[in-house]
Amino acid sequence: MAWLLPRACCLKVFCQPSRGPFSSGIAKAWSGGPLTAYMPEAVAFAGSRDHPGLYTVSVEQVDEFWGALGRNRLMWINPFHSVKDCNLQQGWVSWFLGGQLNVAVNCLDRHVHTAPNKVALIWEKDEPGKEVRVTYRELLELTGRLGNTLKRQGVKRGDRVTIYMPPCPLAVASMLACARIGAVHTVVFAGFSSEALADRIRDAQSETVITVNQGLRGGKVIELKQTVDQAVRVCPLVKRVLVSMRTEQKVPMSELDVPLEEEMMKEDVCCEPAVMESEDLLFLLYTSGSTGKPKGLVHSQAGYLLYAAITHKYVFDYHDGDVFGCVADIGWITGHSYVVYGPLCNGGTTVLFESTPVYPNPGRYWETVERLRINQFYGAPTAIRLLLRYGDEWVKRYDRSSLKILGSVGEPINTEAWEWYFNVVGDARCPVVDTWWQTETGGICISPRPSSPGDEILPGMAMRPFFGISPALLDDKGNILTQNNVSGALCISQAWPGMARTIYNDHKRFLETYLMPYPGFFFTGDGAYRSSQGYYQLTGRLDDVINVSGHRLGTAELEDIVNQHRAVAESAVIGFPHEIKGEGAYVFIVLKKGTDVSQERLSNELKELVSKKIAKYASPEYVQVTKRLPKTRSGKIMRRVLKKIVEDKADELGDLTTLDDHEAVEEIIEGHKRLLQEEQGQ
Ligand code: WTA
Repeated sequence: MAWLLPRACCLKVFCQPSRGPFSSGIAKAWSGGPLTAYMPEAVAFAGSRDHPGLYTVSVEQVDEFWGALGRNRLMWINPFHSVKDCNLQQGWVSWFLGGQLNVAVNCLDRHVHTAPNKVALIWEKDEPGKEVRVTYRELLELTGRLGNTLKRQGVKRGDRVTIYMPPCPLAVASMLACARIGAVHTVVFAGFSSEALADRIRDAQSETVITVNQGLRGGKVIELKQTVDQAVRVCPLVKRVLVSMRTEQKVPMSELDVPLEEEMMKEDVCCEPAVMESEDLLFLLYTSGSTGKPKGLVHSQAGYLLYAAITHKYVFDYHDGDVFGCVADIGWITGHSYVVYGPLCNGGTTVLFESTPVYPNPGRYWETVERLRINQFYGAPTAIRLLLRYGDEWVKRYDRSSLKILGSVGEPINTEAWEWYFNVVGDARCPVVDTWWQTETGGICISPRPSSPGDEILPGMAMRPFFGISPALLDDKGNILTQNNVSGALCISQAWPGMARTIYNDHKRFLETYLMPYPGFFFTGDGAYRSSQGYYQLTGRLDDVINVSGHRLGTAELEDIVNQHRAVAESAVIGFPHEIKGEGAYVFIVLKKGTDVSQERLSNELKELVSKKIAKYASPEYVQVTKRLPKTRSGKIMRRVLKKIVEDKADELGDLTTLDDHEAVEEIIEGHKRLLQEEQGQ
């Protein structure tokens, strides 16, 4: 079955309804069967006969669309009385008002009722071939015991619980146990340093931390408990640290520490679900912004869960019995929505991937696909670019016939990586969905699927808005650009159920960052181009945020840290295109008077400092020492100029003498050339 029908010079993909052994229901439903087989709720939507019709209903009859899905796809303790009460102008967003539910019941109990022995999680451990399957019944029991343990330890409804764990069943059970008892989880990626962890514990005012004795990643032992010990030393509010045993190795336990498995064994498997309001907090998740301090985005119960479930189902065409393989870490929003909440709300089987794409070799992903018979694979462009370099052989060695759809997330996917993913990994038969979304949006907002069968997919483009999403492009003056073939600031013009409600303890910052730049719109921080056919293509961040290997990093956040170095007087951090990581950080440093440190030594010390304060991935690629930073007459650093230099586009700056502070610019261009020569010489 050929998915690829190349046309003249531009590569277009026409996804035909599949007739293979894994043929998708969506295609059949669209090509002949009733629309209601695809979305049964459509029976009540007048005039929706096809995908465009459904999309129109979703953005024009918002209450009818989301009301029907909310009633049907979630299980309620008490039904909601109003679908929404939202006003982006005022910063007020509420969905499913009056409704009460429990997220853990929606993700577990109702599936235990119908299919207790169905596999909920496949834990793909770091050690290949040692996967562990956890059924819905088992996951409910783990969650119940863990919920009771948390309660016995004194965790109450509304309390924040910090989870610092690698992907493992107990991490998922910890998230769900919080949801079950009404606590608010905040998962911190287990690659963050103790200082970054401590910042997040303090900001969330968590009294409870859940962790593991040690982590395993790429065959290496990571002393996660030690990192937690260092963090809690500077977090006086922390009253308890629950420690799960990922490895056999005993670790020193203090009076704060509670051996998790031992305590869980004393508890009952039944744990009464808390009755939660739709808008109660479900979790906080920290992400970087354009100022120094990471922000804790707040997601609430019903709207988030519904949006994660619906996007999981329709973007990936997930069907009962499929094995869904999202390889993101649970510490990021992708792990929350597409490893945990979306798939489990849909009663699916989801893979928890603990390892790395190159361990024990660059065939790891595809060997896992073969062994677990993964149907939908969802990964990051940075990993695809890395694997592409190792050649096709590592892919072709394994049977990938189970794959039906390939997803990409986190950053733009360049055409070369997209084509390799499509042609080599997917054997030119699986649609590639380049999904655009953010921690703030809760779930996928723009993606080539769902759409009508046969609709084209263009490489490296997110293309089509999801149900309920109305994108808008605005110019710098705040005018809405209505025509096609334009670029602008990507905004979303009406509220959707999955959007973040606020920043924890800082609603003002939420309003200032997202709702005030373009009143009446949610501003994403990204720029986008709308093609002549009306498809969206992301063009990059408009603010001072860079995206390193799919991880967001504020340049101001990095500057704050770099400036703490004893020799640094002033710094500027600029993002530059990096072949594998997408973007890298390039740091310009002006030294304090009288300090004498070599560029090389400073570079090593700054890399270490950033790893210690944030995480390894945040380490700068280049450090250039310069006498001064070029400034405008009003004293602002000329970032636009620095950006051109690090992108090796200094020639685009034109006649340098016409620039403010041209001598500083010339010195920096020379220094940059020397730095690159030294790098190449090494
Ligand atoms: C970027 C990850 C281009 C974007 C789910 C966004 C993308 C930020 C894409 C959010 C994509 C994410 N194409 N850029 N398909 N997906 N981004 O919060 O800049 O970690 O604003 O959420 O990543 O990153 P976050």
